[in-house]
Amino acid sequence: MRPAVLSLVPVLGLLQPALAALYTSPAQLPAGRKYDYVVVGGGLGGGVVAARLAETASKNVLLIEAGPRLVPNRDIETIAIPFLCVGLAPDTPADWNYTSTVQPGLAGRTIDYPRGRVLGGSSSINYMIWNTGSSDDWDRYARVTGDSGWSWKAIQPFIKKVERIVPPADNHNTTGEYIPSIHGTSGPLGISLQGYPSLLDSRVIATTEQLSAEFPLNPDMNSGNPIGIGYSQFSVENGSRTSSATAYLEPALSSGSNLDVLVNTQVTKLFQTGTEQGLPAIRGVQFAQSAEGPFYVVNATTEVILSAGAIGTPQLLLLSGIGGSADLKKLGINTLVNLPDVGKNLQDHTVLPNIWSINATQTPDDYARNATLINDDLTQWATTGTGQLATPPATNIGWFRLPKNASIFDTLTDPSAGPTSPHYEFIFAEVWDSFTLPTPTTGHYMILSSNLFTPTSRGSVTLNTTNPFDFPIIDPALLNSAFDIYTIREAVKAAQRFMAAPAWDGFVIEQAGNFAGVTTDAEVEAYARANAATVFHPVGTAAMSPKGASSGVVDPNLTVKGTRGLRIVDASIFPYVPSMHPQGLVYLVAERAVTLIKAGC
Ligand SMILES: Cc1cc2nc3c(=O)[nH]c(=O)nc-3n(C[C@H](O)[C@H](O)[C@H](O)COP(=O)(O)OP(=O)(O)OC[C@H]3O[C@@H](n4cnc5c(N)ncnc54)[C@H](O)[C@@H]3O)c2cc1C
Ligand SMILES: *[C@@H]1O[C@H](CO)[C@@H](O)[C@H](O)[C@H]1NC(C)=O
Ligand SMILES: *[C@@H]1O[C@H](CO)[C@@H](O)[C@H](O)[C@H]1NC(C)=O
Ligand SMILES: *[C@@H]1O[C@H](CO)[C@@H](O)[C@H](O)[C@H]1NC(C)=O
Ligand SMILES: *[C@@H]1O[C@H](CO)[C@@H](O)[C@H](O)[C@H]1NC(C)=O
Ligand SMILES: *[C@@H]1O[C@H](CO)[C@@H](O)[C@H](O)[C@H]1NC(C)=O
Ligand SMILES: *[C@@H]1O[C@H](CO)[C@@H](O)[C@H](O)[C@H]1NC(C)=O
Ligand SMILES: *[C@@H]1O[C@H](CO)[C@@H](O)[C@H](O)[C@H]1NC(C)=O
Ligand SMILES: *[C@@H]1O[C@H](CO)[C@@H](O)[C@H](O)[C@H]1NC(C)=O
Ligand SMILES: *[C@@H]1O[C@H](CO)[C@@H](O)[C@H](O)[C@H]1NC(C)=O
Repeated sequence: MRPAVLSLVPVLGLLQPALAALYTSPAQLPAGRKYDYVVVGGGLGGGVVAARLAETASKNVLLIEAGPRLVPNRDIETIAIPFLCVGLAPDTPADWNYTSTVQPGLAGRTIDYPRGRVLGGSSSINYMIWNTGSSDDWDRYARVTGDSGWSWKAIQPFIKKVERIVPPADNHNTTGEYIPSIHGTSGPLGISLQGYPSLLDSRVIATTEQLSAEFPLNPDMNSGNPIGIGYSQFSVENGSRTSSATAYLEPALSSGSNLDVLVNTQVTKLFQTGTEQGLPAIRGVQFAQSAEGPFYVVNATTEVILSAGAIGTPQLLLLSGIGGSADLKKLGINTLVNLPDVGKNLQDHTVLPNIWSINATQTPDDYARNATLINDDLTQWATTGTGQLATPPATNIGWFRLPKNASIFDTLTDPSAGPTSPHYEFIFAEVWDSFTLPTPTTGHYMILSSNLFTPTSRGSVTLNTTNPFDFPIIDPALLNSAFDIYTIREAVKAAQRFMAAPAWDGFVIEQAGNFAGVTTDAEVEAYARANAATVFHPVGTAAMSPKGASSGVVDPNLTVKGTRGLRIVDASIFPYVPSMHPQGLVYLVAERAVTLIKAGC
């Protein structure tokens, strides 16, 4: 259960930016307008691609998003307020409200499976942790696709294209907390370091000195080598969330550009509009606001870009007859393109928030108990953009590898991409966090979560019915392999070693919640299976593979195999889940895709 502060948020004022070419119903679209590009899904990837393509004045771009445009401070405050991100899902107007299938690796539980359904997509509801990936992850993408354009060397210029490093909300001196030269200073997306001091900061840093062999300090986790403990970077500017909506789409809309954005409208099918070089050209897009219709169509003159995310993209491909013909046949769908890997290869990260009770007089645990505290902090945030609420609830982050002699490697080869790719992550936060227990009415808490980042389990997205408004079946297969459970167990034991450092004496009281008393391997395993959940990072369901390969879904240029006129630009194209938080990598993929599209590749 996440902190229940959403309902406490008062209306903080009205702000209504200019609307240019924003449509809330298909009937409003200008009759007869031709679109060079139709972008499906106004989330992270789609937001970047649509706004960038519309920079070319001669090109008309239509973006279709299933969810609403929620304007911070007008429709919803919590999207903008970093600390309150945990209240944006599940079951809010900005979430698809998906649930996973029964997870055998999670003791037979089903879990909430949030995805943003709003302009900005999941970048509007995510926790804002900013990572650009490990060099070995990128180099593996280049290797397995045969395209050096995905290598770390080739992708780094796009970091400068996306980022604009800005001061943290509290304006503290950030010298030594990041390496300025590797960051962008003029991109659209504001990025900043933690903007509020936490009770944990000095103790985490002291531990990196006391236990430096195992837990060294890393001067910047976004250098290509994240290993060690680093200071968090966030998609936050002036104490507010930045997203593909705030940084790309809203500026494009308010400049009155050649970008048309249609919200509250779901794309229900892609269809063939012709044949080119013996291949189906798929430039037709059907859409509607409900299963009852009416249904509308638009044909792109140049290209359709599918950016519905790692769940929505395979769902729409399958509904359109692009998938494994055997699977499609079972649902009575005619196969347009036989691509058996559509919806397969789903990979996700697993989070396990280990809780300790701490000796503190006030933490954000008190928000749910003390109306004065939350109201004071909301007022501070609204008037100055500062305070606890101006930073997401993660202070430092650590990235670690299993030791080379770990017993699991006696029988399994290392699934990671290489020595800069971490197997597991630590996230610190000075607040109770649990997916299975509510915040207690008394006491103060911290978490050091142990998160699995190189899973070997593979899940899937499949259709349940042929109604596009029904949810697909989502099986992330969390902790469903010997490697996965071994690694999360080792990550919990590493967290216990970390917290046993002298730096925590007199501050940490004991393991709490369902983590209380957990010590033996068997106890750790049972605790992990009963309490873990998703870090919300599904990828891989329309993966890249070499040009001409029969496996995979898209070529390295991101065009859908066996088609013309259809490209995918979102998290579904990663053949392996990045071993860090993926949003930064999705921005980089989207910016490179724009370069490819503009170059006619
Ligand atoms: C709760 C949460 C927390 C997260 N925290 C972090 C974090 O701290 N750091 C990090 O790096 N990553 C985080 N992520 C992950 C990150 O946000 C995603 O990896 C990223 O947004 C994926 O981008 P995308 O373009 O693939 O999909 P999305 O951003 O999800 O966009 C897909 C869009 O397509 C729309 N859509 C889907 N189907 C259709 C359709 N048929 N018709 C029209 N529109 C459609 C959706 O409504 C959505 O707007 C988090 C995600 C969630 C949900
Ligand atoms: C998700 O749940 C919220 C709250 O019940 C609701 O407002 C929203 O419409 C739901 N979204 C979908 C796609 O069903
Ligand atoms: C920030 O800290 C560094 C190192 O401690 C110091 O050299 C620098 O002068 C400080 N900058 C400001 C603006 O105070
Ligand atoms: C953040 O604040 C600075 C200084 O006031 C301002 O120049 C900048 O435009 C703000 N950024 C955003 C995204 O509002
Ligand atoms: C889209 O293309 C299809 C197939 O070529 C055609 O039948 C249809 O009329 C076109 N629709 C529009 C709106 O141009
Ligand atoms: C509630 O928070 C306010 C503001 O920080 C503080 O002054 C007050 O002591 C708190 N009340 C309780 C009961 O802790
Ligand atoms: C691995 O090596 C380290 C020293 O390098 C040693 O302390 C540890 O016990 C070894 N672990 C295993 C499982 O062999
Ligand atoms: C799949 O459809 C069945 C029958 O309509 C329904 O009971 C089930 O809940 C659906 N599953 C999902 C994941 O929506
Ligand atoms: C809690 O911290 C205070 C000082 O901050 C200290 O005096 C006290 O002994 C600590 N209590 C425990 C149980 O460690
Ligand atoms: C990408 O497109 C360019 C331009 O059409 C082409 O030269 C290149 O071979 C393509 N690369 C791949 C891997 O498909």
